[in-house]
Amino acid sequence: MKGLILSGGRGTRLRPITYTSAKQLVPVANKPILFYGIEALASCGIRDLGIVVGDTHQEIRDALGDGSRFGVRVTYLQQEAPLGLAHAVLISEAFMAGEPFVMYLGDNLVREPLRPMVERFAQDRPAAQIFLARVKNPQQFGVAELDGDRVVRLIEKPERPPSDLALVGVYMFDACVFDAVKAIRPSARGELEITDAIQWLIDRGKTVRPSVISGWWKDTGKLEDMLEANRIILDGLEPRQDGVVERSEVLGKVVIEPGAKVVESTIRGPAIIGRGAIIEHAYVGPFTSIGDGVVVRSSEIEHSILLEGSSVMDIGARIESSLIGRNVSIHRSETKPRSYKLMIGDRSEIGLL
Ligand code: G1P
Repeated sequence: MKGLILSGGRGTRLRPITYTSAKQLVPVANKPILFYGIEALASCGIRDLGIVVGDTHQEIRDALGDGSRFGVRVTYLQQEAPLGLAHAVLISEAFMAGEPFVMYLGDNLVREPLRPMVERFAQDRPAAQIFLARVKNPQQFGVAELDGDRVVRLIEKPERPPSDLALVGVYMFDACVFDAVKAIRPSARGELEITDAIQWLIDRGKTVRPSVISGWWKDTGKLEDMLEANRIILDGLEPRQDGVVERSEVLGKVVIEPGAKVVESTIRGPAIIGRGAIIEHAYVGPFTSIGDGVVVRSSEIEHSILLEGSSVMDIGARIESSLIGRNVSIHRSETKPRSYKLMIGDRSEIGLL
């Protein structure tokens, strides 16, 4: 059994962060989203991983290397343009060499343990196994229509969804999926859709087994989803204090990494404070990930993600529900005239009091 992790795409819904970073490398609880998927496949005993990459390939290569730190072997498969999930499968045919495989979308987080499902798939060998989860906004996903335990129809982002069962970004296939991805034509959005490829299998009487998962999963394509994923992962962390804490209150599940310094502050978990970060005369509230080398001084922040090297200083109001990029500086300015002074990248979003 091999693995295929999709790590291309443009991440348009996470701009401006994705102007300078692959969306799969945005951290959740200070760890790139992509790493969770790789660890999930490695924990199923899958050692050979194909990583489909696009424009951001160099960054992904720098982050993963040869995969040895995860105990896997990584082969990079270059996709010349984001032409769809089924196109990513198409270009992996030589790498798979006839073996069945698990496909994992690199911007998805799935808490359900994969191992039992992989074992069941390997034993029964249906043509495909898909995972479904009940969602409130099925229009934004691939949606399945079931008849008992049988998938009748799959539709990509339907205007009028036949059910609330969305396709989760983990799929298992045997080699007959390659016939399907070669046979289908691009959709209205110009992509080869994996839903169409699976529908092709269904239409030819192949067994496509659905599993409705009960645990949570997140497609982290949007800010709200990133923050929620961050919230859930932080909630599951084991508290640990490896940094320096002086005259401060640290409450609940809090991870303080080596080299971090917390002085005269309150940290209310779940939260993580990255390596070398400085928190001084500050409040860090629940569900906050403070990246490596971040400085928060005389300010309050909660339910947010701050990427490495950023600083928040002397802010008069609490910052919340925010995603702040790398090396961003937010500070009070005392120079006259008293005014907002901004230097902000394209497509940024700022909410002022
Ligand atoms: C893709 C699939 C969709 C699936 C979703 C899960 O959508 O096309 O069927 O439900 O991933 O994350 P995309 O993220 O490409 O819009």
